[in-house]
Amino acid sequence: MPLPGFVGRLFSRPHYGGGMRIHVADHPLVSHKLTVLRDVDTASPTFREVAGELVMLLGYEAMRGLSTEPVEVRTPLALTRGQALARPRPLLVPVLRAGLGLLDPMMRLLPTAEVGFLGIVRDEQTLEAVTYASRLPQDLSGRQCFLLDPMLATGSTLVAAVDKLFARGAKDVTAVCLIAAPEGLERLERAVGDRDVLVVVAAVDDHLNANAYIVPGLGDAGDRLYGSV
Ligand code: URA
Repeated sequence: MPLPGFVGRLFSRPHYGGGMRIHVADHPLVSHKLTVLRDVDTASPTFREVAGELVMLLGYEAMRGLSTEPVEVRTPLALTRGQALARPRPLLVPVLRAGLGLLDPMMRLLPTAEVGFLGIVRDEQTLEAVTYASRLPQDLSGRQCFLLDPMLATGSTLVAAVDKLFARGAKDVTAVCLIAAPEGLERLERAVGDRDVLVVVAAVDDHLNANAYIVPGLGDAGDRLYGSV
């Protein structure tokens, strides 16, 4: 299946306007680690470890648009200019349950971030997103937000999550996912409109099957991370 036109579109976050952009992290390490995750014989402990390594690589790309401000810094030799991360602090939001597997590596990259939580399940009949838990700052004005959700399948979860963050005033939203389906990306792009959203993924796969699983995918990411409880 041909990839949607926006795949590969220039990634840099503009200082004006918005609209959805997608960055497919094209790197041998990313491909290698994703292949380990796809392998049905990779057990949970290895899966968690390799997923963490992969998320550090994706997170590095996802954070390229972080706002900074100029500061002065004294080295042992001279006073010079540097850059510090701007306030307000960015917000990381894992989507429970599988998004928790992405949280620790993102916090290691950005230890000063705050963390909110969204619990969203998809109704297996309608495949629509149902929110069962939400713990977010009331006011997200000026905040850069990172949604952590490994599988962008139908897009319904991310559409709901993006809406919640912008409803509280988020400045921009970056979704960090391991794999996306073209169908979900198209749905998300339609819902995002001109809001400032970036999706960073390791791969865009072929299609969704009748049960809305990504093919070839890696199976149920929550189960692969934590077992089928
Ligand atoms: N959620 C998953 O964990 N895997 C898929 O393939 C689709 C949704």
